Amino acid sequence: MNKSQLTRIFAKPPELQTRRLLLRKLAVSDFADMYEYSRLEEVTRYLVWNPHPDEEYTERYLESVQTQYKTGEFFDWGVVWRDNGKLIGTCGFTSFDTAHNRGEAGYVINPAYRGIGVAPEALMAVLDFGFNELRLNRIEAKYIFGNDASRRVMEKCSMTFEGVLRGYMHIKHGYSDIGMCAVLADDFKRIYGTARFYERKQAGGINFLKVFEKDWF
Ligand SMILES: CC(C)(COP(=O)(O)OP(=O)(O)OC[C@H]1O[C@@H](n2cnc3c(N)ncnc32)[C@H](O)[C@@H]1OP(=O)(O)O)[C@@H](O)C(=O)NCCC(=O)NCCS
Repeated sequence: MNKSQLTRIFAKPPELQTRRLLLRKLAVSDFADMYEYSRLEEVTRYLVWNPHPDEEYTERYLESVQTQYKTGEFFDWGVVWRDNGKLIGTCGFTSFDTAHNRGEAGYVINPAYRGIGVAPEALMAVLDFGFNELRLNRIEAKYIFGNDASRRVMEKCSMTFEGVLRGYMHIKHGYSDIGMCAVLADDFKRIYGTARFYERKQAGGINFLKVFEKDWF
């Protein structure tokens, strides 16, 4: 998968439906739901960004995301709680290394919905999509050392802890040690076989699978 193919896919990310969640493109109209959690210190404690100061900031951020979807710089889905249609977080890829056919996954969940397996449910859909549709060989996820809940999410999704990258990132006030977890396509297929972790909905009226098969494989 090369960069232009990835750009094309994430310009209109397909909607992925799991048991309780819908993963869909973020919209500017999500700003109030997003601000509800992105304003909290407890959410950003182990992230590279700081709490959003106000709803306008979140709205502007989501406006910039719309451009980044088109230019191939943003690969996250909004995570929606299907029962009430509320945006409760994000999950997706933070980056790709196309030369080595790998992606890096990430997620953030509103604390009001924590501890009930939302992040693993969303991450499994993203891993499934990454291996079975993007045909990645490796998906990794990094966390700031100490974020044990996040490491637990990775391990629940069969990602293996590979070690600590010492002083790897300069975040906020200093250098942070970073934990690295990853799963390979072969491991994923061996563990889960033909099990699928999402159902696909059409994105923007386009039959994504058809486009995918015809143009890229
Ligand atoms: C980390 C985060 C994604 C977890 O999401 P979630 O939907 O609550 O995930 P889960 O429901 O699977 O619960 C987290 C798991 O970690 C465990 N856990 C929670 N706090 C923990 C801690 N301090 N130490 C070890 N494990 C912990 C929970 O017990 C649970 O595991 P279990 O199901 O085996 O009991 C969420 O807290 C979050 O969004 N945090 C802020 C953003 C963030 O840090 N993102 C990750 C960046 S790498």
